[in-house]
Amino acid sequence: MPRMYHDQDVDLSVLSGHTIGVIGYGNQGRAQALNIRDSGFEPLIGNRDDPYRDTAIKDNFVVHAISDVAERAAILLMLIPDEVQPQVYESQIKPHLKAGDVLCFASGYNIFYGTIEPPAGVGAIMVAPRMIGAAVRDLYTRRLGFPCLVAGREGDDPQCLSIALALARAIGATRLGAFQSSFREEVVIDLFAEQMLWPGIIKLCLLYFEKLVENGCDPEIVATELHLSGEFVEIAKAMITHGFFGQLKLHSQTSQYGQLSRMERMAPAELLTCVNIAIQEIISGRFHTEWTKEQEAGKPNMKRLWQHALEHPLAKSEARLEALRKIVARSYGPASD
Ligand code: NAI
Repeated sequence: MPRMYHDQDVDLSVLSGHTIGVIGYGNQGRAQALNIRDSGFEPLIGNRDDPYRDTAIKDNFVVHAISDVAERAAILLMLIPDEVQPQVYESQIKPHLKAGDVLCFASGYNIFYGTIEPPAGVGAIMVAPRMIGAAVRDLYTRRLGFPCLVAGREGDDPQCLSIALALARAIGATRLGAFQSSFREEVVIDLFAEQMLWPGIIKLCLLYFEKLVENGCDPEIVATELHLSGEFVEIAKAMITHGFFGQLKLHSQTSQYGQLSRMERMAPAELLTCVNIAIQEIISGRFHTEWTKEQEAGKPNMKRLWQHALEHPLAKSEARLEALRKIVARSYGPASD
């Protein structure tokens, strides 16, 4: 078991006397800034002139230019998208950093891939909620917590980790528990889910749809069975309430036997090769290089891939089932990231 920290393990007072700056007021920025304020600290918000700035003002924050916050704050939470962080860091943050400042990231991405390299004397920590921003705020207001990964860097002042833990407490994470982790672990876990687990599930769902339609089933009935009924979500919820395997007991004996007896053949050697390629692309930085080049080129492949996805017959069936989808969607609340 990795070390897990709870409220009682964490000294919140290490934040006292430090100016905390929150760069960005989006999904995580808004949630974390509000939680930090409700935990007794008044963060400075740094945001460019866009609608997020207006939201921060409506929430009664005084909003400053990013470079002003970088100048004034000793603890800076980097809560803008990972892909824009290096450029914003170089132009608006780095010139204002002083020895003893601490940069806090909500993902391991830029530190692990070396696209942000804080100067000597400036610490880098990670407080990475395993939760979307809206829920970070909602759970805090309900006095509940959420899982979080916390890390410092080898060679930095040990006080940096205490600051990371205090921030994890201030945003409400240690109410449930914060795991001690690393920048590398966060990146690998996160990107591997995005590049192996979720695309694997999506591809299997499409194969399910295609094979059943090919065998004479009605596409709308298949789409309803696949995801529009909400059963998918109920199974995912049951994995939490009854356990990953325990939820199988909620299915019929025929279903249980079908699932357990056919599970292994769903991972043939070719699939395992793809799984290995996926993790190597992440660890070696190959994916990072590819994605950086894609962004520099104006994301031509991303546009093509989106277009291809939306041309799938499942998307067309879903469009025909719009009314049904809206009714089921009401049971599951607003869409989340
Ligand atoms: P977001 O997409 O909600 O960020 C919006 C904010 O970024 C706004 O304040 C906007 O003004 C600012 N921004 C966007 N482009 C900018 C630019 N070019 N220059 C200056 N400011 C710019 O970001 P999100 O999703 O909250 O992610 C922030 C960090 O949190 C990332 O490191 C992400 O990996 C991490 N994270 C996000 C989660 C989520 O719920 N989305 C979950 C856990 C971690």
